[in-house]
Amino acid sequence: MEPRLEANLINWNSCVRVHAESQFYDVEGWLRNAPGPPSRETEALGDVAGKTLVHLQCHFGMDTLRWARAGATVTGLDFSPAAIDEATSLAERAGLSERASFVCANVYDAPRAFPGRRFDVVYVSLGSLCWLPDVAAWGGVVADLLAPGGKLYLHDVHPFTSCFDDDGERVIYSYFEEPDSPFIFDSTSTYTDGEELSATRTYEWNHSIGEIVAALIGRGLVLDSLTEHDWTLFHQFPWLEENASGLLVVPEGRPRIPLSFTVLAHVPSKV
Ligand SMILES: C[S@@+](CC[C@H](N)C(=O)[O-])C[C@H]1O[C@@H](n2cnc3c(N)ncnc32)[C@H](O)[C@@H]1O
Repeated sequence: MEPRLEANLINWNSCVRVHAESQFYDVEGWLRNAPGPPSRETEALGDVAGKTLVHLQCHFGMDTLRWARAGATVTGLDFSPAAIDEATSLAERAGLSERASFVCANVYDAPRAFPGRRFDVVYVSLGSLCWLPDVAAWGGVVADLLAPGGKLYLHDVHPFTSCFDDDGERVIYSYFEEPDSPFIFDSTSTYTDGEELSATRTYEWNHSIGEIVAALIGRGLVLDSLTEHDWTLFHQFPWLEENASGLLVVPEGRPRIPLSFTVLAHVPSKV
């Protein structure tokens, strides 16, 4: 693995226990309430009962396991062994092990991690693409994993927001992918509450909306929808406000900007 991804892996390994114990993820509440996927996601993907779904960059599996509750046979993939161990134990605690498995691999090696296997759904959730230096290669991974007629559901941080400083006041980073100029961060904190991290260095990359869409259509996917949202799910900027639905939004009086986005795409069925 290249050194920048190696550094990210060490950082992610150090995040897993902190995240699993955080109020942000609230694992005990999640086990008690046993939520399925959010309605916006089930409306987009339809009935997944009996379908196969692979979740790329699954972290410790909470988003993955929601789809097992909806009836899919799910496979989570993440390069962090700590995340995969935690996800496997969470599946057991949730009673979902029969329909859920977790595999440790770099996302760029995913097709080799599942030799000969294709999935009905590739699912990617918030906070994923910024860890990847090459979005075109990621588009190839998605295409290689999907069965004919299979669907991609991607919800991620809007790349426009990644251009801003931590206060969300000034544009200081490139909107476009710069493979050789990652955003380099050194921080003892993560996006959840909890202890300080032992490994602080990370490398991140932005990918414009155009680059993400081109990565997918360049590998033969058909774009069904691209939606820019004025809400997100984590406190990216100190001035975001929580609305009545629990989504984080721009407060009144500030210009509305896109905070996250969703892409739905599919691979044509064979004729
Ligand atoms: C922000 S988390 C995803 C969070 C997830 N949406 C959730 O809410 O639980 C990003 C995940 O990407 C994984 N990751 C980063 N780079 C990766 C790579 N090159 N291959 C596989 N996984 C990667 C990290 O280990 C981490 O678990």
